[in-house]
Amino acid sequence: MVPLTRAPGRESDRLRFVEVPRGHPGATLAEAVRTGLGSSPKTLPSLFFYDDEGSALFDLITQLPEYTPTRCELEILQASANEIVRSVHGPCEIVEFGSGSGVKTRTLIEAALGRQGSLQYVPIDVSGDYLRASAAALLADYPELEVTALAAEYRDGLAALPPTDRPRLVTFMGSNLGNMEFCEAAQFLGDVRAAMGPHDRLLLGVDLVKDTDTVWAAYNDRAGVTERFNKNVLARVNRELGADFDLEAFGHWAPYVPGKDRIEMHLVARREAVVRVEALGETYRFEAGESVRTEISQKYTLESLQATCLVGGFGIERVWHDRQGWFAVALCRPVA
Ligand code: TRP
Repeated sequence: MVPLTRAPGRESDRLRFVEVPRGHPGATLAEAVRTGLGSSPKTLPSLFFYDDEGSALFDLITQLPEYTPTRCELEILQASANEIVRSVHGPCEIVEFGSGSGVKTRTLIEAALGRQGSLQYVPIDVSGDYLRASAAALLADYPELEVTALAAEYRDGLAALPPTDRPRLVTFMGSNLGNMEFCEAAQFLGDVRAAMGPHDRLLLGVDLVKDTDTVWAAYNDRAGVTERFNKNVLARVNRELGADFDLEAFGHWAPYVPGKDRIEMHLVARREAVVRVEALGETYRFEAGESVRTEISQKYTLESLQATCLVGGFGIERVWHDRQGWFAVALCRPVA
């Protein structure tokens, strides 16, 4: 076992917090709004849901009775975290994309600490304050843990991974892969693959195709939290870019598209609207009924997951399911 030099120690000594600069065009909210609202049909990238307010709302989503993916994934991790960690060759490091509150990750962290005594955990999340808070909570609970937190978009985080001698267990949970089109997903996996060595493993959590009503309900909860989450992107454009979206003038619409096995999330103008975005010096027109697509949530089958992984340069080594068979956690190995 390779001892980490600084652990255990004071919590602040065990945290490295890095704000990684945005490394590619199209990455700022302003640029995304200019491109997305300027095109037809209008879109906004889902990345911008997750400011601190949005991340907190998303946490509420994960606790909704209708939202099954988080509970199913947690069930799998609770039952199999030890097995998952043991499938990595020797003591490992854990890298997590889109870490959020870190509740599910605790299962893996505990399994790794139990196996190897010390652990470096590298969460990557766009929501900086949120990342800092969850890192602090983890460090307080696990004296043998070191955290290098990267406040970054996925790709920028990938380029900024701290060097390590240990194999990495890279996790991409929460069905976040489903928020990408198949080609984007394969491309993203390809980028991850390029940063990985032969002993590293990728752990993917994806929501599976299941009965349509169950899937639909997860994105159309009765309490209206998903609606607030969806509309937060408009509130954010108001806050950060001085826009004048009237949130009441837009409705949440999240249909299931059976031919594509996916949910699409839209914001629909209830009536004709004209919106000024001060920071861009632009005005955007919405016809009554016109929608802005804000998100897709692809539901996978094992076949479609396998195909996507293969294009991205991964073979699936093992798959775990929840009792209902609604969710899958797949351990993937880089292939040549
Ligand atoms: N990765 C989550 C999913 O696809 C994200 C998500 C859940 C989401 N609920 C949402 C995104 C509502 C936008 C709106 O399930």
